[in-house]
Amino acid sequence: MKKTNVFGVILAGGIGSRMGNVEKPKQFMEIGKKPIIIHTIEKFVLNPQFERIIVLTPRQWVKHTQDMIRKFILQGDRIDVIQGGETRNETIMNSINHIENKYGLDDETIIVTHDSVRPFVTHRILEDNIRMAKKTGACDTVIPATDTIVESCDHKFITNIPDRSCMYQGQTPQSFKAKKLRDVYGALSEEEKAILTDACKIYVLKGEKVELVNGEVFNIKITYPNDLRVAESLLGGDASC
Ligand code: CTP
Repeated sequence: MKKTNVFGVILAGGIGSRMGNVEKPKQFMEIGKKPIIIHTIEKFVLNPQFERIIVLTPRQWVKHTQDMIRKFILQGDRIDVIQGGETRNETIMNSINHIENKYGLDDETIIVTHDSVRPFVTHRILEDNIRMAKKTGACDTVIPATDTIVESCDHKFITNIPDRSCMYQGQTPQSFKAKKLRDVYGALSEEEKAILTDACKIYVLKGEKVELVNGEVFNIKITYPNDLRVAESLLGGDASC
């Protein structure tokens, strides 16, 4: 059977505006004496299934990221650092174009896309993503919602309270057959692209199936200053990997 090529895609193209007025994007801030992005890259490097690991950052942070990788990661030879895009989904498209130009792309090529600011992803989650993306073509990492979700479209009154048993919180990785993801994204209108916050929604808008993979409660996204304190304590506790 033909080998499926699997690529890790670490999304670090954002500026971390919700983190407040810091001199660097949050992915370069330190927890446990290492930049957050390095903790995340380490998880991918430990998995031999990734042919290459593509890290995408703002243009002015590419060199800094390469320097950090050289400083902290012993086996960094599978890693490419390139420029991300204007939006998270454009960053993903940059990764697919890079893979096509440098390594070749076929219908079975898989990308495991992951937020650089989720350093607590586990080996089990990465393995489940690879297996599921090979089997079904697209998957999302989620945990069941613990709080009741209250919808308010005018931010004043409740418009809906969906049945909690059907609700999940989305995490990453989100994994796809790369060529198909690019095709489906390319078929969206500019209006549709503008409302996307997440790559799986590209498929949802077009009626394509995305299967669920179990995440972990501790697979948090570092977004606000308080998340840095939570992350430091997770590093000190059993949940760190
Ligand atoms: N991301 C990206 N390219 C972009 C925007 C975001 O690769 N153009 C990445 C971020 O670097 C982050 C991940 O997507 O690792 C999740 O996004 P989020 O937490 O929203 O990060 P930021 O956009 O940096 O944060 P904020 O919304 O607070 O500015």
